[in-house]
Amino acid sequence: MKHLLGIEGLSRDEFYLLLDNSREMVEISRRDIKKVPALRGKTVINMFFEASTRTRSSFEIAGKRLSADVVNVSATGSSVTKGETLLDTARTLSAMAPDVLVVRHSASGAPAFLARYLPDTAVVNAGDGLHEHPTQALLDCLTLSEHFSARSQGIEGLRLAIVGDVLHSRVARSNIWAHLLLGNEVRLVGPPTFLPPELKEAFGADSSQCRGRLEVYYDLKSGIAGADVVMCLRLQLERQSQHFVPSLEEYSREYGVSEKLLARYAPNCVVLHPGPVNRGIEVSSEVLDGPRSLVSKQVSNGVAVRMAVLFLLATGKDTGETTIA
Ligand code: NCD
Repeated sequence: MKHLLGIEGLSRDEFYLLLDNSREMVEISRRDIKKVPALRGKTVINMFFEASTRTRSSFEIAGKRLSADVVNVSATGSSVTKGETLLDTARTLSAMAPDVLVVRHSASGAPAFLARYLPDTAVVNAGDGLHEHPTQALLDCLTLSEHFSARSQGIEGLRLAIVGDVLHSRVARSNIWAHLLLGNEVRLVGPPTFLPPELKEAFGADSSQCRGRLEVYYDLKSGIAGADVVMCLRLQLERQSQHFVPSLEEYSREYGVSEKLLARYAPNCVVLHPGPVNRGIEVSSEVLDGPRSLVSKQVSNGVAVRMAVLFLLATGKDTGETTIA
């Protein structure tokens, strides 16, 4: 694996390799001294051209826990504000010979574009427009694999309901690819404006090669019925050029995930949310702060997953082949 640009196209073996390597990194993150020399002498540049709290800080912490030199560049404060193009900025940074370039950008395809033009640098997609956010899907699956560790099938054979603004969500897209790869039942739940018919077709879920199932539900109760996992999505208001919902109050009434609904329709489910959360709009505080919520585990696992990805791309080795100490 030279780059990590998306979950689409990964094989099951590659996906499980990343999860297995992440588990080893979880162990390091639980130690008293959370630092190993594995990436000493390697350089990671985090190029974040869109707002981020969790992803950016966890890539930075991940690099530092592995002893890499980590440099952060954001759009504000970089030469982008002076009119430099994305490619020129990336070429400039690449000339400083980083081993890994982590990119977040509002344009779908920006990391893939850079990967094409920067042959000597490994590129990681940290979220590009409406396209993908592969490390988020990996950390979601790592969190689920810890929760469902007693199940003989692990995280396969699950029913996952993804609720909300699927249209504008790169988190949803990466998770759909991941769960179809695992052979799971994926339900997309939301108003029709967030679930256009092309969306379902884009994942090839009706083809004979697809191992999982993808269904669309416009009604929240039937969409979450019997779900093992309910993934709530933030309304991506910054990406919406028109009114997709009549009002936030009305959206919340129809599609807000509450404990009362979960207790009735998906009593055994756990709840994921990638953050940041619009509390009380897509999900209630009772659910978010309650026992079903795996949200803070998702955040901790984000560091481990990013350590695994940086390690794999910077060294070309997986943790099974080498000791990370
Ligand atoms: C997500 C993102 O940026 O795509 N956040 C994240 O990385 N944890 C989801 C969001 O912004 O709603």
